Amino acid sequence: MANIDWKNLSFGYTKTNYNVRCYFRDGKWGHLEISSEETINIHMAATALHYGQEAFEGLKAFTGKDGQTRVFRWEENAKRLQRSAEAILMEAVPTALFKEAMETVIKLNKDYIPPYGTGSSLYLRPLLIGSGPQVGVKPAAEYLFVIFATPVGPYFKEGFKPVDVEIVRDYDRAAPQGTGNVKVGGNYAASLRAGVRAHEEGYAASLFLDSKTKTYIDEAGPANFFGIKEGKYITPDSPSILPSITNMSLRTLADDMGLKVERRHITVDELDSFDEVGACGTAAVISPIKKIHDRNTNINYMYCKDGHAGPISTKLYKTLQGIQMGEIEDIHHWNTIIK
Ligand SMILES: Cc1ncc(COP(=O)(O)O)c(C=O)c1O
Repeated sequence: MANIDWKNLSFGYTKTNYNVRCYFRDGKWGHLEISSEETINIHMAATALHYGQEAFEGLKAFTGKDGQTRVFRWEENAKRLQRSAEAILMEAVPTALFKEAMETVIKLNKDYIPPYGTGSSLYLRPLLIGSGPQVGVKPAAEYLFVIFATPVGPYFKEGFKPVDVEIVRDYDRAAPQGTGNVKVGGNYAASLRAGVRAHEEGYAASLFLDSKTKTYIDEAGPANFFGIKEGKYITPDSPSILPSITNMSLRTLADDMGLKVERRHITVDELDSFDEVGACGTAAVISPIKKIHDRNTNINYMYCKDGHAGPISTKLYKTLQGIQMGEIEDIHHWNTIIK
């Protein structure tokens, strides 16, 4: 077991022993390579560097209550990476290669899987880049697929604590018919100015609106948005948001709990009528929101009036985390146990 203060890990990079890599060259994927280098050596004209041919994923391995290692819904991350690859004309990583890479990197770094009860997990970061050179704007002929692993603490140190977010109208993270629905680097570069300003202004994230009409809630920074009212779990239906695997799972759990699930437009005006709102994603599962500030109108939408997350968000959070930790029966078969 690595000598790490598991309980005080941040959500950041910690070096581990190994990563895994595979090249697509001459029209086919090669063998998976094991590396202990933290750097990659690529051509200076690689398309990833010039034309943004780059996509990534994020998923976690947990030590459960029974001491076994569980990965949550990895097949969905493999599928999403394939969709991202298709969207920017990269070679898609076959599901079998994704699985082999994921299992190998977890097993090689078993000393870095945080113990049960610490709130930490082993974060896996698959990365796919156009590594071959091109000077004209064209897709590369060569690709590199990497997965590295790094132990991470909870996204918010305070744990499941309500945060404030701000609505932005002067920046967009994605165009209406662009790449907002896939996990490519360009979306994140485009979101940085709004995100950094939100932090400087005291907010955990920026709440983006649909970039065409600026009427509907789109993404909550690097997370999906949801609201609860009148026995309903409501989440935006938008062509420019990333289909979150956490959100997909929460919709199933909400349905299991007897809530009605709606995917539809949510207007800014409607924010007033929710009992609970939150952001969801792999990093934090759910970040309950206590205040949404509109930078343009100066209106504040307030939730969690007693300072705590609402009862439905709390139940959803505890259930999803309980499944990931092997504390609650995995009736939907979301976990894969790595032996
Ligand atoms: C823009 C964006 N939206 C939503 C999510 C949440 O997705 P998931 O639940 O699959 O982690 C992420 C994180 O991956 C993200 O980067």
